[in-house]
Parts: sequence; structure tokens; C-alpha cells
Amino acid sequence: MQPDSPRGGSQRGESFVEALSAYSRFHRAQHWSGTFGEFLRTVVPGNGRQLARASHEYLWDMLCWFGKNNPAAAVNGNATNGNGESGGPKELFKRELFGIDEPLGRVVDYFKAAAAGSDVGRRLLLLLGPPSGGKSTMAILLKRGLEEYSHTDEGAMYALQGSPMHESPLNLVPPTLRAEFRDTYGVEIRGELSPWARDRLEREFEGDFLRMPVERIFLSEATRMGVGTYAPHDPTTADLADLVGSVDLSKVAQYGDEGDPRAWSWSGAVYAASRGMLEMIEILKVKREFLYLLLTLTQEKNVKVSRFPLIYLDETILAHTNLAEFHKFLQEKENEALLDRMVIVKVPYTLSYVEESRIYNKLVSAAPAFRDVHLDPHALRLAAVFAVLTRLVKPEREGLDLSKKLRLYAGESVEGFPETEVSRLRAESAEEGLTGVSPRFVVNSISNAITRSDKKSLTSMEVLLALKDSIENDARMDAKAKKLWIDYLVLARKDFYNRWVKEDVHRALFASFEDEAQQLLDKYLDEVEASLDHREVTDPITNESRPADERFLRSVEDKIKVSESGKMTFRQEVVRKAMVAYKQSEKFTLNSHSRMREAIEQYLFEERRDVLRLVTSAARPDDEARKKISAVQDRLTAEYGYDEHSAKEALSYVTTLLAQE
Ligand SMILES: Nc1ncnc2c1ncn2[C@@H]1O[C@H](COP(=O)(O)OP(=O)(O)OP(=O)(O)O)[C@@H](O)[C@H]1O
Ligand SMILES: [Mg+2]
Repeated sequence: MQPDSPRGGSQRGESFVEALSAYSRFHRAQHWSGTFGEFLRTVVPGNGRQLARASHEYLWDMLCWFGKNNPAAAVNGNATNGNGESGGPKELFKRELFGIDEPLGRVVDYFKAAAAGSDVGRRLLLLLGPPSGGKSTMAILLKRGLEEYSHTDEGAMYALQGSPMHESPLNLVPPTLRAEFRDTYGVEIRGELSPWARDRLEREFEGDFLRMPVERIFLSEATRMGVGTYAPHDPTTADLADLVGSVDLSKVAQYGDEGDPRAWSWSGAVYAASRGMLEMIEILKVKREFLYLLLTLTQEKNVKVSRFPLIYLDETILAHTNLAEFHKFLQEKENEALLDRMVIVKVPYTLSYVEESRIYNKLVSAAPAFRDVHLDPHALRLAAVFAVLTRLVKPEREGLDLSKKLRLYAGESVEGFPETEVSRLRAESAEEGLTGVSPRFVVNSISNAITRSDKKSLTSMEVLLALKDSIENDARMDAKAKKLWIDYLVLARKDFYNRWVKEDVHRALFASFEDEAQQLLDKYLDEVEASLDHREVTDPITNESRPADERFLRSVEDKIKVSESGKMTFRQEVVRKAMVAYKQSEKFTLNSHSRMREAIEQYLFEERRDVLRLVTSAARPDDEARKKISAVQDRLTAEYGYDEHSAKEALSYVTTLLAQE
């Protein structure tokens, strides 16, 4: 790329500054601050429900807002969720998470039920899944979603100014006046003032709550505003104070009383997350007293801290853990009661190789190491096939092997197994997706291959080799497990890659494959119709009549093993489909008939396979041969997503396959 001219650069600089100032104008415009009295007069009327939302309701509204406004579509073009539809309340997740619709649905259902006031809102949400399966990503998306939503009109949130738990200003309304408040504004106030707020109200405003300052807040993890994270470091030194704070000794000297709320350090994660969400990483690693505190917080909406009466806190806790930790936790009998107070959502790996390859695509496009590296068009899909194979349970159905099961799971049609079979198969092996290779493993081994080879191009076969290398060098696996996974690499190559690469090369053998194939299909139909009607065919050039070309018909049908005795049924079926298309004024194309497509591709290919033979056979190809070969290579690069290196490799790979046929 040419470096920017100084002028272009400064123009761009100006528009960036403009964008910045528009951004800051927008943000200033949204700010609001005033006394509680002003808040009651100007903000509350008409907005009662919105302002009285509890954290679960707020999160649910946020998810619905993303479902309606679908900002992801604007950011990612049409690549939102693969099918261009809006994902409803799942939309927020669909920006980044692929192929795990079912767990996403469960998470969304949790918020929906909790927002509606069901008892699930009093239970903690625990995501349980294998490593690198998207749990943290889910939590991050919820956090970023909250931050974004709090900047919208619908998501406007207000708090007592300076409150360490950004508590709702409505909590100022004394219990005796709440019934009247409900009659006036139509909303029930559920919260209670914190010791901090009560202290300030008395000391600075002599209890006149109308004068307490209120402001609009914007949720933000960086400023510890409504978004918090807690990760257990060393459980032996972890202190409850990390969550709920402690006495600040330097302030005790100043205020002279340990019970003074000003002498308490309100920096704990539960305060930071108040009114929004607290993410608990590896929750089952924390001490049991932590767990009790969090479960009580979810259930009773309060925490008990020494010296203070119960402190009201409203927040959603999203916890996650991996399977190993979970099984360990289950072994202690007394933990059962704790698990009862959680809603557990399993987050398995995706079982669709197409979706899995979208994950790699996402990770690869984000990584600088991949920026200038060309991957052949099947590299990521093939790695994804391998990954999903390691996650599947062998089917016990007659005629159904792992490869077919994998294709069914990806929504492909497999002869003899209707689509309805998929849900039955899924039900049979509920644990599928909780084990196997992780996206991180695959992407890491591809990166290693790139770093090591300093090549700018990686083929599917090289990706398989990189995976093999990673498996062989994995210290955590035993020999048997390694062998199994390497067998899956072989299977992925045999049942998928060979087919894909052959198809590319077959097509690239033609200047215009689609045209030639369509012509051949038309010819086939003409001949079939003539033969069924016992008509003569008129040669367009010589005008001579001749009977239908039975030899041609059979040579096409031969390619897909239509038998002599079955040929009539097959031909009638093709003609019937062609008639249907004709009646609907559509053209009968190869896309309307997958078996015809296979037959024609194969027929055309065999006509040209001599070109491929040239690739290997001629030690010193003559000019004519060289031209033909390079035309194929050119088409592979121009039309099928290859680069020079991978096109050459693909050609010689397919030629070797041919030699084995
Ligand atoms: N289904 C998926 N769709 C899109 N990306 C995914 C998916 N699963 C995992 N990833 C990606 O893989 C990477 C690892 O995922 P993440 O850190 O969210 O997993 P995790 O479940 O928290 O793992 P761990 O248990 O190891 O903490 C992330 O970059 C994430 O975007
Ligand atoms: Mg994680």
C-alpha cells in the first residue's frame, strides 16, 4: 500500500477529531444531575417503570433492545448470524458466538424468567463448559452490552451521586410514603438506602431527602460502575474483603469510629457491580464462605458486613466454571444444597463444523500473525471437521458413520437419513460437545505452523500436519488418545478434503464450468425425452434425424451407478423434475438435482482428466501442456480462492488421488 500523502493524512486526522467531538457532545448531552426533588419532578413522571427496574429486568430489556436494534448488523455488514435474520434477544451474543444457539437460548430464558419475577431470578446463573468454549466471551458480551445500553434513552439509569454502590435514588423514598408513591407513579420501590447514603443524608442534608443529589450514570467496567469481575487468585489468601470491603484504618483515625460508613472501604466487587452484573470467574474455586455470601446476595438481595445492618444490593451474578472443577465440587456432599441454588447452563462446543470454522475465521482475522497469510479455501473448514469429529459420540445406527453424522449436524443432506434424525441423534448423546478439541487448540497450532514456516501461504494439508504435530507434542494426552485424534485427521482428509479439492480442480478444468455443465444437462434432457417418447432427434447442423443416443445417456448415468434396470425410473424422475421447473417458469439447472449434478461433473471431468495427467506424467511438459496446466491454476486462483502455492499443491494432490482411483 502507498503511504498516505501528508494531505490525505491530515484530512483523515480532521475527520477523526470531528468524530471525537461529536462523540463528546453526544455524551455531554446525555448527562443529567440535580436534586432528588428535581428528579421526581422532571425525570420520574412517565418513566416510573424504567427507573424502578431491578438488575435482571434491566439485563433482559438490554437483550431485547439489542434484538430490536441489531447494531451488530451495522458493524459487521451482513455477517451477523449467517442467515441474515435477527436473532431476537440472542442477537447480542450472535455478534461473536457461533453454533451454540441452544445454550444461548437457555441463558436468554433465564433472564426472561427472572425479569418476569419468577423464582429463577433468586438463583445464581452458572455457565458450565469445556475450556475455551465461549463462557468468558458470553460474560464479556453481556458487560459490553450493559455499557452500550446505559448510553441509550431506553437504558438511562440514575443513581445517588457519589454512592459507592450507585444505588437507586428511589430508595430515598421512606417506607411510609411508598404506598403513596406507588399510587402516584405506578411503581413499587423495593430497595433500601445503604448505610453510606443514610449517613450522608443525615449529616449533610439533615434528613431532607429532596435535596440529595442525583445523577445519570453510565455503566462501565473500567470505572467500576455497575459492572464487576471477580477472579479467585490464590484461594488460601483470598479475603472476603475483596468482595465486601473492610475497615479503612487510616479513616478510622479521622472519623474516630469504626462504625462510621465513611471509615469503611466500599471497594469490594459486589458494590462495583451493584445494579448491573458481577462476573464470577471459576466460582467453584472460591472458599465456601464466599459462595454463601454470593448465594445469599442473589436470593435475599443483601449482604451482611460487620458493624452494619444488612446492606441491600441488587445485582445479577453470572458465574462460570469448567467441568473438572464442577465434578470435584460435586463430590462433596454438602455442596449439593449450594448447587440447588444455582441455575446451571451447559455451554458445550458447537457440533457444526461450518459454525466451528466461523470461529477460526473470527480468531484468525483478529490475529496479527495471520494478517498477510493466505489460507486455502478449505483449510479452516477442514480443521473444523477434525475438531467436531473429536467431540462426537460414535453413532450406533445402521449405515451411519461419524462422517455422515457430522454432515447431518451441519445441516447437510445425507442419503437415507432425514433431517428429523438430527434431534433424535442429539438426544441420544446429551454429553456431546463437552469434550474434544477446543477452538484455541486448533488456532494455536495453525499459528505455530505459520510462525515456524514463515511462509505466506498455508494449505489444508499443511494445516492437518500442523494439527498432527500439536497432538503428538501435547504433554497432557496419552498415546491412545493421540492415536484416536490422529485417526480423525485421516478421516477428515479422506471423507471431506479429498471431495472438496477434487470438486474445485474438476471445475477449474473448464473455462466456464457452469455453462458447459448446463449445456450437457440440456443435451441429456433432450435425449432422454426423445428416448422416452421413441422420437428421433434432429441434428441442429445437418438437419438429419437419428434415434436417441443411448450410449451417451448410459455413459452419463454410469457415473452415478444407475443400473440398466433402474434407468427408466431414473430418467422419468429427472424429466418429472424438469417439468415441474418448467411449469414454474424456472430453468432446470444442476442445482435442482444433486445426483444429476454429480453425474455431469464426473462426466465432464473424465473428458478432461488428461490435462491433469500432464501434471505428473510429463517430466518435461511441452508448451501446449504447460499452457493447459497454468490455465487451470489461474482459474483456481481467480475463481476458487487459491493462491499460487496452494493451487499448485491442490493440482498435484488431485493428480495423485487420480492415480489411486
Ligand atoms: N461458539 C463460539 N463462537 C465464537 N467464538 C468462540 C466460541 N467458542 C469459543 N470461542 C472463542 O474462543 C476463545 C475462547 O473462548 P472463551 O475465553 O470465551 O472460553 P471460556 O469458555 O471462557 O474458556 P475457559 O474455560 O478456558 O476460560 C474466544 O476468543 C472466543 O471468542
Ligand atoms: Mg474463561
